Amino acid sequence: IRCIGILTSGGDAPGMNAAIRAVTRSGISNGYKIKGIYRGYDGLINDDIQIFTTENVSSIIQRGGTILRTARSKEFTTPAGRKKAYDTLVKEGIDALVVIGGNGSLTGAMLLADEYDFPCIGLPGTIDNDLWGTDSTIGYDTTLNTIKECVDKIRDTATSHERIFFVEVMGRDAGFLAQYSAIAAGAEAAIIPEDSTDSDQLIEFMKRGIRKSKKSCIVIVSESPKCGAMYYAERVNKEYPEFDVRVSILGHLQRGGSPSAHDRILASLTGVGAIQAVKQGQRNVMVGVRNNELVYVPFVDAVRKKKPIDRNLIKVLDDLSI
Ligand code: F6P
Repeated sequence: IRCIGILTSGGDAPGMNAAIRAVTRSGISNGYKIKGIYRGYDGLINDDIQIFTTENVSSIIQRGGTILRTARSKEFTTPAGRKKAYDTLVKEGIDALVVIGGNGSLTGAMLLADEYDFPCIGLPGTIDNDLWGTDSTIGYDTTLNTIKECVDKIRDTATSHERIFFVEVMGRDAGFLAQYSAIAAGAEAAIIPEDSTDSDQLIEFMKRGIRKSKKSCIVIVSESPKCGAMYYAERVNKEYPEFDVRVSILGHLQRGGSPSAHDRILASLTGVGAIQAVKQGQRNVMVGVRNNELVYVPFVDAVRKKKPIDRNLIKVLDDLSI
């Protein structure tokens, strides 16, 4: 292998730039030529590619987003799109591909690797923390801190007005952001897809919590097409009109901003790990960190196995919310 391509794909995440920097610098240090592929798989399909030198990645470790841009490529989900992408790899003389992204992006890398026997290495780049086999994903810690700061601010209003706030956070199908931010921000509850908590249990809880000792309350709700923060607020409004209820949907501010030290370090370790993987002849694995050790997780496990939440944390939150 002489030339390694690198791309970011799917939702941007703080720390992606630190990962691009690490892969580029470590790749060059180890004698590889590095090519940056713009706009994710769309850029691979359309040959939007440039040689990367160390200068391309100077002063980017602190920047949010991704200098390579990103996309959710529809075309790459089709066999015809992946054929075009493979043809570009051959044309560009790229012998291995490093993909930084979440579940959908690494699933794409797995398909390309399988169909064309092409070496692909993945880095876990998503705020959702929903990739199996790694304790954390690049971007998750920064987003958790962003949510914590937002909820701290919302609490000022919640307390002053004695209101119930339903704060909706991202996470797609996973409740990590909601559960951990609820603990970090001292929220009274988290509604997460992995838990059986339904709205009636929630209202019971609020009756207890609010009437006994609390005059305000913050509930963190994982985004969901049917049962998001709006849904719970409307139910409480209807069934308990004595409560003053508000909703705050944090939205895309959760994805932006300068990456935390934790995310920069994770990106740097896994970026260097990706080049080591190529050197060792590994292929079709995601580089992660588990119990402070670098691990190589087969794509099929990383994307297909469901990362479990820590159920003990449900009790922790319950105990602390009285
Ligand atoms: O996967 C990251 C994420 O931010 C999810 O938490 C969220 O559901 C989704 O992306 C939003 O995607 P988009 O920016 O395309 O609307």
